[in-house]
Amino acid sequence: MKIFIEKNYELLSSKAVLRFKKILESKKVKNIAFPTGNTPKLFYRKLVELYKKGKIDFSKISGFLIDEYYPMKKDSKDSFNYYISNNFFALVNLKEKYSLNGSNLDFISECRSYKELIEKKGGLDMAILGIGENGHIGFNEPGSELNSRVRLVELKNTTLDLNRAKYEAGPIPRYALTMGIYEIFRAKRIMLLASGKSKSERVRDFLNGPISRDLPVSVLRLHPDIEVIIDKEAAVLIEDKIMNLIN
Ligand code: F6R
Repeated sequence: MKIFIEKNYELLSSKAVLRFKKILESKKVKNIAFPTGNTPKLFYRKLVELYKKGKIDFSKISGFLIDEYYPMKKDSKDSFNYYISNNFFALVNLKEKYSLNGSNLDFISECRSYKELIEKKGGLDMAILGIGENGHIGFNEPGSELNSRVRLVELKNTTLDLNRAKYEAGPIPRYALTMGIYEIFRAKRIMLLASGKSKSERVRDFLNGPISRDLPVSVLRLHPDIEVIIDKEAAVLIEDKIMNLIN
């Protein structure tokens, strides 16, 4: 595991862009899973700026959105489809863009198709991830099976309370469609991002707590190729013995 601790959110985002660009240039990645949320917003903005300057090329990359509320219309401003399209997918030259459709009434076939699509494409080469304050990755909430696949999940109140602040219209859906921990863990490489004090407990537990279903992100500690990019605030609770190993 590589861990980078940057001074602030701005530098964290620049570091993530730098690392991501290098990985893209290595030509070893094609299928990449992308998250929504506050954490990657500046990362996406910086990638789009680089693209507009002709300094990065996504023409060989297929983008896969990690999750989506359910039920949810694709073009609703609260949908993750809307977020990823407006922050990234529609602003760069990705070869292909895929996402879960939260308005398909047949969510079982929606999940099955997405799972099969990822398999048909040869699996994910990379997953970029944020960490939920309750330790979720994608929408794999605490208690998720470590071999869980693309599926419908019921969101925890902790997630609903936090996401309500980012949500514009009406009551927030209690359900979501998400890649499973299996699809995420099987990605050949992972880039995990966390910013701010509110993530500090989860970052500490991720690095030094038990690997458990109660903290889905903890399973990523077993991943053979993961880099973690966080800022100082997210790092404040990392124990000294771990910090000594990082530095
Ligand atoms: C969203 C997703 C979530 C977020 C996590 C952190 O697509 O996959 O797991 O990464 O909830 O969200 P932020 O970055 O808003 O703190």
